[in-house]
Amino acid sequence: MFFSTPLISVALTMLASVTALPQPDQNTLTARQSSCPSGSYQYNQTACVACPAGNTCNGGSDSPQPCDYGRYQPNTGSTSCMQTQPGFFTNQRGSTTPAPCPAGSYQPYSQQAFCYGVPKGRFQSQSGKSFVCATCCGWAATGTNNVNPVNCTAPTPYAWPNSGDGCISSPTSCTRAATCAQAADGSCPGETIFG
Ligand SMILES: *[C@@H]1O[C@H](CO)[C@@H](O)[C@H](O)[C@H]1NC(C)=O
Ligand SMILES: *[C@@H]1O[C@H](CO)[C@@H](O)[C@H](O)[C@H]1NC(C)=O
Repeated sequence: MFFSTPLISVALTMLASVTALPQPDQNTLTARQSSCPSGSYQYNQTACVACPAGNTCNGGSDSPQPCDYGRYQPNTGSTSCMQTQPGFFTNQRGSTTPAPCPAGSYQPYSQQAFCYGVPKGRFQSQSGKSFVCATCCGWAATGTNNVNPVNCTAPTPYAWPNSGDGCISSPTSCTRAATCAQAADGSCPGETIFG
């Protein structure tokens, strides 16, 4: 026999005193790991707070996650981000709203962080658009980021429609368009080009 009765008694007394030390509250530990519902996050030891706009929250003990480039979330308390629509862009993480592509630029795809500049021979007079308009007979757009086509005048009064060459001096066989403007609803005067 290795232990005398008094030794066992001392050991039991020590165990009792260790058990009596303050212990972490197992319920609190569990609560801190999984108590916050989806759409909220653990703000401090006692409070779950609604997920901030521009973020998503899985609940539990996860921190808010900012929406990625090309995505956004205007509402608080969310579990998912929205896709930036064509004609718009979102170039920061954690965004609450997408921005429209300015006139002279466009974006045909969703979930993008930038807009394309309008190429030559095309124009886009309005913001928030997913397409470009081709120029008309007698009107040209020679540079890039074209907001409006220019009316060709002497000494280069002519232009082919859809022309990247701009105004030229040689007569064309097409009939000069009196105007070359987009309608209020964004409709192009000639060809509409997506992508
Ligand atoms: C936690 O945050 C809430 C909301 O701001 C506040 O009312 C509460 O006193 C905070 N609790 C602690 C322990 O900081
Ligand atoms: C465009 O320019 C032509 C001359 O090249 C002119 O006859 C016409 O009136 C102009 N149109 C507009 C809308 O400015």
